[in-house]
Amino acid sequence: MWSGNPLFPEAASTVASRVDALYIFLVALTLFFVALIAGLVIFFGIKYRRRQPDEIGARIHGGLILEIAWSVIPLIISLGIFAWSADLFFAMSRPPDEAMNIYVVGKQWMWKVQHIDGQREINQLHIPVGRKVKLTMTSEDVIHDFFIPEFRVKADVIPGRYTTIWFEATKPGTYRLFCAEYCGNKHSGMIGEVIVQEPNDFQAWMHGGLSQGSLAAAGEQLFSDLACNTCHRSDTQGRGPALTGVYGSTVALMSGVNATADEAYIRESILTPAAKVVNGFQPIMPTFQGLVTEEQLLQLIEYVKSLKAPGQTAAASHEGAAAPGAAAPAH
Ligand code: CUA
Repeated sequence: MWSGNPLFPEAASTVASRVDALYIFLVALTLFFVALIAGLVIFFGIKYRRRQPDEIGARIHGGLILEIAWSVIPLIISLGIFAWSADLFFAMSRPPDEAMNIYVVGKQWMWKVQHIDGQREINQLHIPVGRKVKLTMTSEDVIHDFFIPEFRVKADVIPGRYTTIWFEATKPGTYRLFCAEYCGNKHSGMIGEVIVQEPNDFQAWMHGGLSQGSLAAAGEQLFSDLACNTCHRSDTQGRGPALTGVYGSTVALMSGVNATADEAYIRESILTPAAKVVNGFQPIMPTFQGLVTEEQLLQLIEYVKSLKAPGQTAAASHEGAAAPGAAAPAH
């Protein structure tokens, strides 16, 4: 219906029509009140105009019912908009557990994409239709903003942090990808395309070309190249904590508080090791700031994610996913 209209791009993801419905409602509501108020101003202006030069207006005392009405009705409308948009916000900001993860690194002035299986692309993002996709994004330099108008998703991409968006494309095709945050003099050239393919075509694309192996495999290589494995030994005898099963777990720190070992925690532990020292260990790890790129950090994170404890499945860290009998007696 909106196809081809630059002001209202095609709706090509599962949330697009929900975003549009809210947006159209807000526009319609605004137009209604603009028309009502402007219409009444003009109508009253004419109806109650001064008819003789010496005419004096009648004194008006407040109308209680009117005042209650114009307070309560907007309150109900505003709270309705709040509930509606909060519901949509939560749906858009909570990636489903089964979403396929893809990493995005922004830099002046390009988008670099890394798939878990090892495919990399620049200013292009290939995804399968009908599959939930989560993007984990960061920036090498300044703040960028990843925006796919046809999917109605957009998020800042911030140096030193991971932000995420998720979506499910509903139609194969090629869609526009923009940077939506002014990031330097070639900001307007920081564009690309999102290529939504049928699952079979996507599989063919994924396995075509030169694959450098999975991200986790690249991370494992880096882990030994940087000699991380001399301290982070798997047998718990190392000078650093063993990393098996760490991802997604709760870690007790020297400071007495607990941390959740998510992507941001692993990133910080590599770049600023002293910030969160695991209880029982010394703050002796050197920083790797400047030694590893954002893309290498993602490889290391994928490697740590791949180190699962025996019996730990990919979903084991999510509540409700524990298999029956998983809590076997220890003795
Ligand atoms: Cu990157 Cu604008």
